[in-house]
This record gives sequence, C-alpha cells and structure tokens, in this order.
Amino acid sequence: MVAAGKGILAADESTGTITKRFGALRIESTADARRDYRELLFRTKDAMEQYISGVILYDETIRQTAKDGTPLVKLIEAAGAIPGIKVDAGAKPLANFLGETITEGLDGLRERLSDYHGLGARFAKWRAVIQIGGGVPTDFAVEANARALARYAGLCQEAGIVPIVEPEVLMDGAHDLARCYDVTEFVLKTVFMELYKARVFLEGMILKPNMIVPGKACAAKASPEEVAQATIRVLRNCAPAAVPGVAFLSGGQSDVEATANLDAISRLGGPWALTFSYGRALQDAAQKAWAGQPENMRAAQAAFAHRARMNSLAAQGRWSEGEERTAA
Ligand code: 13P
Repeated sequence: MVAAGKGILAADESTGTITKRFGALRIESTADARRDYRELLFRTKDAMEQYISGVILYDETIRQTAKDGTPLVKLIEAAGAIPGIKVDAGAKPLANFLGETITEGLDGLRERLSDYHGLGARFAKWRAVIQIGGGVPTDFAVEANARALARYAGLCQEAGIVPIVEPEVLMDGAHDLARCYDVTEFVLKTVFMELYKARVFLEGMILKPNMIVPGKACAAKASPEEVAQATIRVLRNCAPAAVPGVAFLSGGQSDVEATANLDAISRLGGPWALTFSYGRALQDAAQKAWAGQPENMRAAQAAFAHRARMNSLAAQGRWSEGEERTAA
C-alpha cells in the first residue's frame, strides 16, 4: 500500500457524493455512468501499474462488473493494485453538539468485513471528520470519533484486512495554520491512545491524516515548505514509528497544491513511508475531461495518468513545476 513511488486512489465516493461531483459537470449519475467512469480509471493501465498501489472502493463499486462482464475488482488486481473498501456509513450530526459529527457504521461491521474480504478487499477505510470553529472541536466529539476508529481498526485486523485510520480535520473555516496544528495534534494523540487501548497492532495499519494547512477562508496562505514543516512536526510528535505508512488525504486542496505540498513533505521525510491517498486531487481533472462522454475517455485517462505520475514523483520528493507542465 505504501510501496515506493506508489499511492492510493480514493475512488470510494458514496453515491450521494459522486452524484454531487457529477452534477457540477452536468453528468447524469446512473449506476452505469458511475461504473463507466470508474472502469475508465481502473483501465488506465500504465498509470495504475506504475503509480497506484491500492484503490478504495464504495459498496456499489466493489460489486460491479465492467462493460465486458469482468468484475471491477479483477481489473484492479490485474493492474497489480490492491482493492480496498470504505466501510464507514458516513459522518452524522452528533446529538447535543451543534456543528460536530460522529462517524457511524460499527453495527454489523464484523459480518460486512467478512463479506468484503470474500469480494476481494484486503484493506479498508473509515473516515472520522473533525470540524474547527468557535468552541469546536469538543473533547467529547474527538474522543467518540477516536473510539469508533479504534473499534473499526480492531475489527479489520481480526478479519485479516488492513485498516486505514483516517481522522480528517477539515479545512473549512478561517482558522490559521497554527490552529489546524493544535487541533490535529490533539486528534492524533487521542486516536493513538484509543488504538492502544483497543490493542490495535500499529505495524498493521496505515494512517490517513490531513496535512497541516490554514483554513480555506484564512487570509494567510502557507507555502509548501511551511505546510511540510508543520505536518512532519505534528506527525513526529504523535504518530509512532511502528506505523509503516502515512497516506495523506487531499481534503479540498487544488490538485497541484496537494501535489506540491506532498512533495515538500516527502523531502523532509520521516520514519514512515509517506504517500498520497487522494480522491479529488487525483480525479477532478479526469472527471472534467470525461464529462460523461464516451469519446472523451482517452483524454480523461491521460488526465488521470498525469496526476498519478505527478503524485508519484511528489511521494518521492522528486516533483517540480517543470514536470507539472509536461503534456498530460
Ligand atoms: P480527498 O483526497 O478528496 O480528500 O478524498 C480522500 C478520501 O478518501 C476522503 O475520505
């Protein structure tokens, strides 16, 4: 999952989320359209083989077959990548805590994991969402989410599935980089304490954190070097070296921004393998190029291959603006 020069393609948008993304591009979100789009990505052979270690799928997708009847999971495996599955049921409003959420999905998870293992999944993802705002996050929301992540991770390991532990501190808001640092530090400390209490085997998990960035509405922007310094510092303080890999989410950064920041982070390095587990930052350009039209398939694949190669370079600290301008 964190092999050198490879990273994870997060293609696990729920039907609601992909429908929203398609809607912005006036693409009708039918089960076939979602299949056609994801099939196009998984059939981008060279990029998949060279730059993608694993693909996170959504429940609908892991059960779908390509146009020619081949299960999508088989396409991923044929490219030498590992199929994974999002198993959380989404972030829901936390009762009594206005503006905060709790990620649901623990009920029946043991049985679902066994089902997904049978369908080919060898790793899983659970995303906890932490908001920043006035008086937020509260200790209770962070602790409840961390406990759920730890219970999920334990169940995954029992099932022989590698858990991706994803506590995402959102970029929404006008907070500065220092506030993102402080909140992320508290969140990661809490998550690793809960993982310890739940007896999770740290050598058998991947951490998927946010980078340390200012909020989207913050006037003070941060350079990739500033992002990298703060991100590596918080991880060194909170993530044990026993964790083999850290795969960042893009979280609403632009695609080039997410690449530039990963590159700067990789140049500093850490005791863990560092890479990407991007959704939007790997797919936005491809989705736009595709626009739901079969004749745009090649252009969409080229756009996806370009971003995959840029992020592969970034995961090795070898990306540059010059590379970015090479033809997609
Ligand atoms: P983004 O990279 O678009 O944030 O998505 C990654 C992901 O899997 C979020 O759970």
